[in-house]
Amino acid sequence: MRTIAKRTSPLRGEITVPGDKSISHRSVMFGALGQGDTHVTGFLEGADCLATIDCFRRLGVEIDLDRGAGSVTVHGKGMRGLSPALDPAELYTGNSGTTTRIISGILAPQRFRTLISGDESIATRPMNRIITPLRQMGAQIESVSGNGCAPLMICGTDLHGISYDSPVASAQVKSAILCAGLYADSPTFVTEPALSRDHTERMLREFGAEVISEHVENGFRAGILPCETLHAARIHVPGDISSAAYFIAAATIIPGSEILIRNVGINPTRAGILQAAIQMGADITLLNETNTAEPAADLLVRYAPLHGTDIGGDIIPTLIDEIPVLALMAACAQGRTVIRDAAELKVKETNRIDTVTSNLLRMGCNVTPAEDGFVIEGSLDTLHGARVSSYGDHRIAMTFAIAALLAGSTEIEGDECVDVSYPDFYRTLESL
Ligand code: S3P
Repeated sequence: MRTIAKRTSPLRGEITVPGDKSISHRSVMFGALGQGDTHVTGFLEGADCLATIDCFRRLGVEIDLDRGAGSVTVHGKGMRGLSPALDPAELYTGNSGTTTRIISGILAPQRFRTLISGDESIATRPMNRIITPLRQMGAQIESVSGNGCAPLMICGTDLHGISYDSPVASAQVKSAILCAGLYADSPTFVTEPALSRDHTERMLREFGAEVISEHVENGFRAGILPCETLHAARIHVPGDISSAAYFIAAATIIPGSEILIRNVGINPTRAGILQAAIQMGADITLLNETNTAEPAADLLVRYAPLHGTDIGGDIIPTLIDEIPVLALMAACAQGRTVIRDAAELKVKETNRIDTVTSNLLRMGCNVTPAEDGFVIEGSLDTLHGARVSSYGDHRIAMTFAIAALLAGSTEIEGDECVDVSYPDFYRTLESL
């Protein structure tokens, strides 16, 4: 349990946020399949990405992690070089949905059997969304308890290419299919209703794969050609915009604040939070933009009074992980905010429609949950301090630590789960 006090002075200073979680996972996964050494800088040393490292070490890949430096060397084994995990013959993915789903796509075509399990949250998250398409490719994958969730048993086998219409815009689903497609006997395509984050497509190209990205009539289509070898790469992981979002919100809601957040990834399939916040009146300036495989910029954020807005449609996948903190910004904005088309929130680390609503209600906010989002009647001074819970969800813990700054002394149960994506979160907050 941690108590966060009301902030009585502006937040000012310059910070960097840890490396992007999605990109960090993929750097290890694709590095493991590459031929030769992949060097990664800016790697996120959070529990989720450390789980990915652990899984690939157990699959026989040598990985050097320079602790505290964000520097990783993956000694790639090549596409056919992974070996079965032994004693136990099981991989543990912790709290990480990304690890669980993408590794399933990588293991489906390997010549061995693997059991994949995770923590209590992972054991409730939907896996049929990858089981169904992978089976269409010929994979032998099943939910051991028959409930469509992990543990998953995978018996590696030959795969064929498919053209899959995904009912959800999910980068984890798309990535699992594309990774399996590297090994298929013909090209593989995934169409999603809206474009989800495209880090897999961008990074697999860096490793030498032939990847197609195109706009089609019913959404966005990603494709991959079967591949014999991937080479190694040098990956620079930019700061995680999902982690930056807490400080964007903090600077925006605490009067007089001004924070410079250095080197944040602004890939357009991830940066919807900037657009949504600006739409609500936030004052965010992009400086020093770079345009490499993953574009980045410094974000200068100044306090600004917010007003309510409508958020829904194709922007949702580009800010899905930021919706808890966006809901907080809506609670501090003048007027009504409607967030819709975000039913995916129900199947994240927690049901974030429930967990955000429960904590906002405890702080006195007028919030009504919906099937696919929220209606929030905000005002500049409704929130009050309360005892809230993280429900074991890192993004809920960080959202309500920021809420406390404005609302007043707030106790957060289970605050330590920030380790999943941002181990230094509270220290950075205290530095401002
Ligand atoms: C991620 C994709 C998103 C996101 C998650 C990370 C990824 O999940 O919520 O935090 O790295 O591919 P979905 O693919 O389930 O939308």
